[in-house]
Amino acid sequence: MRGGGAAAALVLTLVLFSPICARVSQAEAEAEAEAHPPSPASSPTPTPTPIPSVPSTSSTLDPKQVKALESLNIPTTKDPCAQPSFHNATLCDNSKPFRHLISLRLSNCSSYVSLSFTALKALSTLRSLALQDCPAAPSRLPPQLTASLTAFSCVNSLRRLSGVWLSQLQNLTLLTVSHVPVRASGPFVILSRMSKLTSLTISDANLTGSLPSHLHSNLTHLDLSLNRLKGSIPPSVTILQNLLTLNLSSNSLSGQIPPSIGDLISLRNLSLSSNSFSGPIPDPLSSLPDLLHLDLSSNQLNGSIPSFISHFKSLTHLNLANNNLRGVLPFNLSFINRLQVFKVAGNSNLCYNRSLLSSKVKLGISPCDKYGMPLSPPAKDSSADDSSDDDYDDTDDYATRHKKDHHHGPNKFVLGVAIALSSIVFLIVFMILCSKCCR
Ligand SMILES: *[C@@H]1O[C@H](CO)[C@@H](O)[C@H](O)[C@H]1NC(C)=O
Ligand SMILES: *[C@@H]1O[C@H](CO)[C@@H](O)[C@H](O)[C@H]1NC(C)=O
Ligand SMILES: *[C@@H]1O[C@H](CO)[C@@H](O)[C@H](O)[C@H]1NC(C)=O
Ligand SMILES: *[C@@H]1O[C@H](CO)[C@@H](O)[C@H](O)[C@H]1NC(C)=O
Ligand SMILES: *[C@@H]1O[C@H](CO)[C@@H](O)[C@H](O)[C@H]1NC(C)=O
Ligand SMILES: *[C@@H]1O[C@H](CO)[C@@H](O)[C@H](O)[C@H]1NC(C)=O
Ligand SMILES: *[C@@H]1O[C@H](CO)[C@@H](O)[C@H](O)[C@H]1NC(C)=O
Ligand SMILES: *[C@@H]1O[C@H](CO)[C@@H](O)[C@H](O)[C@H]1NC(C)=O
Ligand SMILES: *[C@@H]1O[C@H](CO)[C@@H](O)[C@H](O)[C@H]1NC(C)=O
Ligand SMILES: *[C@@H]1O[C@H](CO)[C@@H](O)[C@H](O)[C@H]1NC(C)=O
Repeated sequence: MRGGGAAAALVLTLVLFSPICARVSQAEAEAEAEAHPPSPASSPTPTPTPIPSVPSTSSTLDPKQVKALESLNIPTTKDPCAQPSFHNATLCDNSKPFRHLISLRLSNCSSYVSLSFTALKALSTLRSLALQDCPAAPSRLPPQLTASLTAFSCVNSLRRLSGVWLSQLQNLTLLTVSHVPVRASGPFVILSRMSKLTSLTISDANLTGSLPSHLHSNLTHLDLSLNRLKGSIPPSVTILQNLLTLNLSSNSLSGQIPPSIGDLISLRNLSLSSNSFSGPIPDPLSSLPDLLHLDLSSNQLNGSIPSFISHFKSLTHLNLANNNLRGVLPFNLSFINRLQVFKVAGNSNLCYNRSLLSSKVKLGISPCDKYGMPLSPPAKDSSADDSSDDDYDDTDDYATRHKKDHHHGPNKFVLGVAIALSSIVFLIVFMILCSKCCR
């Protein structure tokens, strides 16, 4: 920062003196230009994506499917099978005499587009159907299409869905529903016969009921965040040994975090935030050392923070804010600095050891007394030294800003002085130089 200030002062000085002492300033400017050559425009290198179908020149798309695409407002003046297609919306197989669509992505549909039964029937060769921002009404599903689809994604589309409608798609491996209200008495209505699922997202869908006790062991991704699910995590969660992501955040789930969570040996990302989970952070969590992202914030978890968390080598995000955790924070500065996000504020009985962590590190918790209890924050004094007050700020965004704002107060002052001093020094030097060289 000081270097930057000095450089800025130098540039300023040069600009001010350029008319008087053109020779010197030009030489300096050239040296500057050499030191910072203009960076070449970085153009993104197009990476060819593997397309399953070999581009064929002879056959074209089945005329029935061309008509269906037209009814969905997708332009067909250009061959929809030619790659890359319009907005990458279509992908075809290589069958003869006509090619068939295997993937269709509809986005930003106008409000009069409707997914009619006729159109869907003509499109029954689709293996993947994705809708984004498509307010069409959902129609009855032709059985050929339900058998064929292995991937279905509906983001802010189809206005509203029912669990029964979704449950027909039994061959899905990938299901994403987000930003769409789904009416069902529970996730089990949708999932009970989808035995091939590997990735499931039903998020922001007003989904009620409780977590299903029988999930499919091949799931790698499970996201039921932002719904209205109740009840506890079933101990049978144990079966999900391939699970990489479990996101149950922002529901009304309660009870303890089951110790069987330690059986999810592949888990990388775990979020249980903004629920009503209580009790301790379970010890078996220590058998998930590959966690990258752990978010247990905004629950009623109590007990102390287990020190095994500091042995999670790959951890980048740790959020334990807004719980009832107590005792001494078991982390040192090198651990905290390694993380991109670290939040523990909002735990009124949690404190940090002043001989391990400086009060400059803004954590939003108090320092401990010698018994490991939080010292109550001293009353703020009105002196100009504002750096010490910051320790007790009730901010929980320490981690996202701490690298920039670490010494916020004093640095402004130091920077100002540095700029002023270097400006004066450079002014004097240049005045001397100029008085010599321009004479
Ligand atoms: C289509 O896909 C290719 C490859 O994935 C990508 O480079 C391109 O930006 C996409 N085009 C559009 C309009 O989305
Ligand atoms: C859809 O609309 C959004 C915003 O209007 C735009 O950013 C996006 O590129 C559009 N997508 C397609 C496929 O037209
Ligand atoms: C799932 O796909 C298979 C063929 O891949 C098919 O025989 C079966 O009928 C489909 N299941 C459903 C419920 O449509
Ligand atoms: C969510 O469900 C509740 C009751 O089940 C209903 O009153 C509410 O309108 C639903 N919200 C949306 C956006 O569908
Ligand atoms: C899980 O995946 C394996 C290998 O991909 C497969 O053999 C098995 O049938 C799948 N199980 C289920 C229940 O789909
Ligand atoms: C969990 O879901 C929420 C809401 O959809 C999202 O903001 C958050 O990033 C997700 N967390 C993880 C760890 O995937
Ligand atoms: C886990 O979350 C991180 C963001 O913190 C994300 O980049 C990564 O893709 C997620 N990994 C999985 C397996 O979901
Ligand atoms: C944590 O809270 C539960 C009630 O939710 C209580 O029974 C238990 O004693 C508490 N444990 C500690 C260590 O405070
Ligand atoms: C900080 O804690 C980690 C994990 O507990 C430990 O490996 C490391 O040696 C500690 N570093 C310092 C400087 O104490
Ligand atoms: C704080 O750390 C020091 C040095 O590791 C240790 O001696 C002391 O007992 C700790 N204090 C508390 C309250 O844990």
